[in-house]
Amino acid sequence: MELDFSYYNPTTIHFGKQSLTKLEGELSNYGDTVLLVYGRNAIKSSGLYDEVIAIIKSAGKRVVELSGVMPNPTYDKMMEGVKLVREHNVSLILAVGGGSVIDCAKGISVSAYCEDQDPFQKYWVEFKDLDNDVVPVASILTMVGTGSEMNGGSVITHEGLKNKAGRVFPPHVYPKFSILNPEYTYTVPQYQMVSGVFDTMSHLMEQYFTDQGANTTDYVIESLLKSSIHNARVALQNPNDYEARSNIMWNATLALNTITGLSKTQDWQVHMIEHQLGAYTDCAHGMGLAAISLPYYRLIYSYGLDKFVRFAAQVWGIDPQGKSKEEQALAGLDALEAFMKECGIVTSLQELGATQDMLPKIAESTIIIGNGYKKLESNEVLDILQACY
Ligand code: NZQ
Ligand code: ZN
Repeated sequence: MELDFSYYNPTTIHFGKQSLTKLEGELSNYGDTVLLVYGRNAIKSSGLYDEVIAIIKSAGKRVVELSGVMPNPTYDKMMEGVKLVREHNVSLILAVGGGSVIDCAKGISVSAYCEDQDPFQKYWVEFKDLDNDVVPVASILTMVGTGSEMNGGSVITHEGLKNKAGRVFPPHVYPKFSILNPEYTYTVPQYQMVSGVFDTMSHLMEQYFTDQGANTTDYVIESLLKSSIHNARVALQNPNDYEARSNIMWNATLALNTITGLSKTQDWQVHMIEHQLGAYTDCAHGMGLAAISLPYYRLIYSYGLDKFVRFAAQVWGIDPQGKSKEEQALAGLDALEAFMKECGIVTSLQELGATQDMLPKIAESTIIIGNGYKKLESNEVLDILQACY
């Protein structure tokens, strides 16, 4: 563990079949008015909406609602929430949904009392320090993958600017508590489920493929990758397998609650490309990551060869006998590709809604970070996009 770190995560997790029973007690820690933030129809058709409303009322709180939060939540939707917070003096923002809903809730939280500048410009474009009051956020998770339930991430899409921008806010913006009942994910369609599994795997790989060493964090990442692969296979066979769905859920939380980044530099280049892909196509986040990952890793693997060899052996069980290091590394990436196909993961940008004329615009607007094994040139981003078109 070569790099120094400080670790703190303030989110209380209530995990399991009975976890919703914790909600009423948690609500007693906050003021009178709850802003309930949710998506389009999933929580109404599952009945969760009615249960949550009943608990909030039984706790003696008033409810204000922001519905219709879409995947890749927009700046305009976030600002609708800001208006509600100001009008109703909201004391807690309760997000019920997936990463988009929770990210939107955090965006509302930091923007509601941002008076001096447009909040998107200030926090998501100029990355200024958070210096205004925030409204506490909490979550009930229904779609798994982003880790937003236990981190400070908030990814907001400004449609006018064609900019899908991510920002990690400090711990006082993390959800105060998150309720994780794996049974809520039984209704998530297979397409979304595997998209979420790949999002988890991508978070792990973004943090894994950064140095040649092997600290404890690398061992943790390998275990989480193996658990994600195994449990995705089980859940594909039986979507109502509680153990598989609960492992998938907890893997996702651990993959981005900062534990798996400790003492590591981190890459995040695949995410940067996907964000702009998402801004142009509105694709499912995990599917976009999957499409980009294979050409990206095949482009950079030789710069981090030993780590890719280790990935092949530890995660995919590639037998090194008779293979050069190059062959082992590539066999690991081939195994990743085969797994994607097995799960029905989409790896073509065309299928995700991209058109040829979008590709140069996506490449030009992608932020190049340079923390991975190789700092990309802008034309290499375009090559990656062409390769998975
Ligand atoms: O709109 P509804 O009806 O709610 O349907 C949603 C949505 O269509 C559906 N869904 C959710 N729970 C369900 C369900 N359908 C059936 N049963 C349920 N129980 O799932 C669809 C997708 O939901 P969404 O929240 O968009 O998915 P996800 O959790 O993958 O979130 C993606 C967003 O998170 C950002 C992504 O960029 C994207 O904008 N990310 C956030 C991160 C963070 N905060 O740290 C990190 C990630 O890397 C990622 O960038
Ligand atoms: Zn992600």
